[in-house]
Amino acid sequence: MLHQEAKRLQHLVDDLFELSKMEEGKVSLSLEWIDLAEVIDNAVQKVQLKASDKGLILRASLNRSTAWVHGDGLRMEQVILNLLENSVRYTEQGEISITLGQTESYVFVAVKDTGIGISEDELPYVFERFYRVEKSRSRQHGGTGLGLSIAKKLIELQGGEIFVSSKLGEGTTFEIRFKLEEQGGSI
Ligand SMILES: Nc1ncnc2c1ncn2[C@@H]1O[C@H](COP(=O)(O)OP(=O)(O)OP(=O)(O)O)[C@@H](O)[C@H]1O
Ligand SMILES: [Mg+2]
Repeated sequence: MLHQEAKRLQHLVDDLFELSKMEEGKVSLSLEWIDLAEVIDNAVQKVQLKASDKGLILRASLNRSTAWVHGDGLRMEQVILNLLENSVRYTEQGEISITLGQTESYVFVAVKDTGIGISEDELPYVFERFYRVEKSRSRQHGGTGLGLSIAKKLIELQGGEIFVSSKLGEGTTFEIRFKLEEQGGSI
């Protein structure tokens, strides 16, 4: 118990430190051209066990010929992992799917689940630090409510945007987009 609690506190301190560094512009990203399909493969591998332990199907549908994006591979994985972990945490049955695709103007990664969803009036706040939707506040879920604010900052630092849509009781979709013209043209 004590060990669990210490781990949770350490995690909280690390997250807060990371967030304040980002806000002071002191976080250094190591930018390179990255293949999102590869990043997603790694993140999916890491979350696979947690999903199957919960009886959830985890499906990846990746267009492997999307343009590479200029970003920090490890940070990108961190963000995608956070979205997938949220989906596993807030889904009791059904499936989680991750899609990589491209439109005329952007590359996108969408993480969709059939979980508890987020109500319309709480949706605008999920990216705020420490915000946790009422129902998920109980200890059983264990989070601190910093994951999404860190994710949003990291995506913006890499020139992208993050969106959420959700329906209470039906599920949630998070989508990350990177505009092609801001990526110095596609490869
Ligand atoms: N896929 C999802 N389905 C339903 N609710 C979600 C989902 N993702 C996030 N949420 C809600 O948004 C809140 C904020 O998410 P966030 O990832 O920032 O925090 P957390 O998961 O509670 O903690 P942590 O800091 O460990 O990530 C969550 O507490 C939860 O209420
Ligand atoms: Mg989280």
